[in-house]
Formats: sequence, C-alpha cells, structure tokens
Amino acid sequence: MGFTMGLNFLLLLAMVATNILSLYHLSTTVQSPKPPPPVAIPIPDHLIRQLNDIRAAINHLTRHSPSTSSTGTPAVPRDLLLHSQIGPIASSCHHHPDLLHRYMNYTPFSACPYDPDLQETLILNGCHPLPRRRCFSKTPSKPTSSLPLNPFPTALPDFSEIWNRYSCKSFACLLQNNPTGFDLNAQRSSLLKYASELDLPVNRFMQLAKSANSVIRLGIDIGGGTGTFAALMKIFYNVTMLTTTMNVNAPYNEAVAARGLVPLHVPLQQRLPVSDGTMDLVRCGRAVNRWIPLPVMEFMLYDVDRVLRGGGYLWVDRFFSKAVDLEKVYEPLMGKLGYKRVKWAVANKTDPSGLKNGEVYLTAVLQKPVSR
Ligand SMILES: *[C@@H]1O[C@H](CO)[C@@H](O)[C@H](O)[C@H]1NC(C)=O
Ligand SMILES: *[C@@H]1O[C@H](CO)[C@@H](O)[C@H](O)[C@H]1NC(C)=O
Repeated sequence: MGFTMGLNFLLLLAMVATNILSLYHLSTTVQSPKPPPPVAIPIPDHLIRQLNDIRAAINHLTRHSPSTSSTGTPAVPRDLLLHSQIGPIASSCHHHPDLLHRYMNYTPFSACPYDPDLQETLILNGCHPLPRRRCFSKTPSKPTSSLPLNPFPTALPDFSEIWNRYSCKSFACLLQNNPTGFDLNAQRSSLLKYASELDLPVNRFMQLAKSANSVIRLGIDIGGGTGTFAALMKIFYNVTMLTTTMNVNAPYNEAVAARGLVPLHVPLQQRLPVSDGTMDLVRCGRAVNRWIPLPVMEFMLYDVDRVLRGGGYLWVDRFFSKAVDLEKVYEPLMGKLGYKRVKWAVANKTDPSGLKNGEVYLTAVLQKPVSR
C-alpha cells in the first residue's frame, strides 16, 4: 500500500505548500508598507493554529494506516492514479525508502558520498527531482581554459569526468566500445545525410520551418545521448537546444556539458522542466520507441504539446514499433494531438530484430496548431 501512502504524502505536501503560501502571503502583506521592525514580530494565533494543524496532520499520516485515513476524502482523479504509477511525483521517492535513506544518509556540510549509481537508480525509478543535500559533490579537476569551444572537438576532454563508476576510463575507450553513442562525427553525418525518406537532414528541417514562416530558436532533444543534434543546431543555426539524457553505463550528461551544451538529467517519464508554450521544437530520437510503456508515451506526448508554442514542431526521428502497432496504436495516439503532418515517412526496419518482429520505422514532423 506504499502507493496510497504516497498519495497521502502528496496531499500532505500540497497542504504544507498551501500553508507555506499563506504564511508567505501573510508576511508580505504585513511587511510590505514599511521595513520590518527591529524586534521579533509576535506570531499571530491563527498561524500557530495552522502550524499545529500541519503537525497534527503529519502525526496522523505517520501513525495511521492509509486505508483508515483515506475514508471520507474525495475520490482521487483517475489520471493522478495512472500517472503516479509511472511518473515522478513526490510519492515515487517514497516507493524506494531503502534507496532514499541511503541517498540521504550523509554528513551535512562535508563531502557527499560518491553514489552516482544510486542517484541514477532513484531517478530512473521516478524519484525526480532528487531531494537536495547539504554536502559537497565531488568535482573533477577541470582546468576550464582547456575545455573546447567547438562542440565537435577531435576528442572530448577526459578530465571533465569522474570515471570511477564506469568500466571505460576515457572517452577514447567509449568511442571504441560504443561507437553509436560516442562517435560524434558519425552522428553528425547521419543527422546531415539524406539516404532514405526516413532521413530528415537538419538543413531540410530548417527550410521546412522557414517556408512556413516559423522561427526556430529554442528546443529540446529528448533522449539526445551526447548532444550531437544540439551541437549541429548551435553551430549551423544558433539554435539553443536542451538535451535530456541519462548516464546509462556512460557519462552522457558530462559529454554534453563538455561540448558546451546543456544536459538535462531527466528520465523519459519526467515532466519537461520548462514552462508552457516556450519551445519551438521538440525532437524525439531513438530512445523513444516501442519499448516505452504506452501510458508513458501518452503522457510524454501531451507534455511535449504543453511545452511547444503554437506553430511549434514535434519531430519524431526513427521511432520504431511493430507495423501493426504503428497503425493501430501509435498513429492514432499521435493523431489525437491534432497536429498538421508536415512529414510522415514509414519504412521497414530491416535489421535482424526488425525483420523478426515485423518492425517499421517512422520519421515524422508534426506542427502544433497555432491556437487552440
Ligand atoms: C550566429 O550568431 C553569430 C553571432 O551573433 C553570428 O555571427 C552568426 O552569423 C550566426 N550564425 C547563423 C547561422 O545565424
Ligand atoms: C515490408 O515488410 C512487409 C512484411 O513484413 C512486406 O510485406 C513489405 O513488402 C515490405 N515492404 C517493403 C517496401 O519492403
């Protein structure tokens, strides 16, 4: 019943937040006309009552089983139940008390424990954002003057990373063991080439946008690995792209940062950390595919819609699924957004696993309606 407890925790959080807000409100209305008097302000009675209520609620929630405390509370919205099972609201941290306790077990004001794997596990389990800690994270010895200005350096600087937790101890090793992930020049060529209708070279996309009188300045590349897409958009078009990326078996976030680009350490099920209607483009690379649970995909697409401005673009690059699922599941799912199809190309996935599973690739550019 950790889930119900989680919900209770969420409600508690909401309540505490509301109380803090009213406190804030009170303090600003009380203090705004004149500077605060030098003596301590006596705490008004109703504030003390509020604080007592908060304390009582915390005691109640920690003492009583969730099933008894939830009687009489209004029904929980269906989408909150659904989302809280897949996505990061505060409850997700409480599903993993053992990990969370390990993470928060440190000596304040001294060096943090070195636990990036623990952090990664918590984040991937939806505990995001992680709680803040009052300790000093280990910093690699980074002589900033030797960081490259060019996002396509001949080699990424190894000193920008702490290698302890990885089997590789250098970017050269990663390049050898994981060329798909770390061959920046191969990635660059593949984003610029046009070899099949699944390809959409960056310059072709920019032409599409330009011919629609749509300016592209800002965007997010979801699951963007080492940030090569952001690098191209920066050097060719001065476009600022954020790159969401996880450190799965390699320091992807640090690689992105070493290229002078902004990495967002955010899992796929996480609400994008930008405000509504602010982005011109959201691109989903191959990290977004049929292995993503459908509810996660669905919430993600609507979050993309939230952050896109009117007339902004969703670019799906080589999404793969079974052919039948594309037709029956994913195409209707994307269709529900009501976007204009600027590009829609489907082709067989011809590698062994694609042939075995009857998979296809989809590359699509969809434009959000200018107003709703
Ligand atoms: C990018 O910005 C720089 C500095 O403002 C400018 O010199 C350059 O021409 C711009 N490049 C493009 C492709 O717009
Ligand atoms: C794609 O694969 C299906 C069967 O999986 C086949 O019937 C079809 O002809 C293929 N299409 C092309 C263009 O090769």
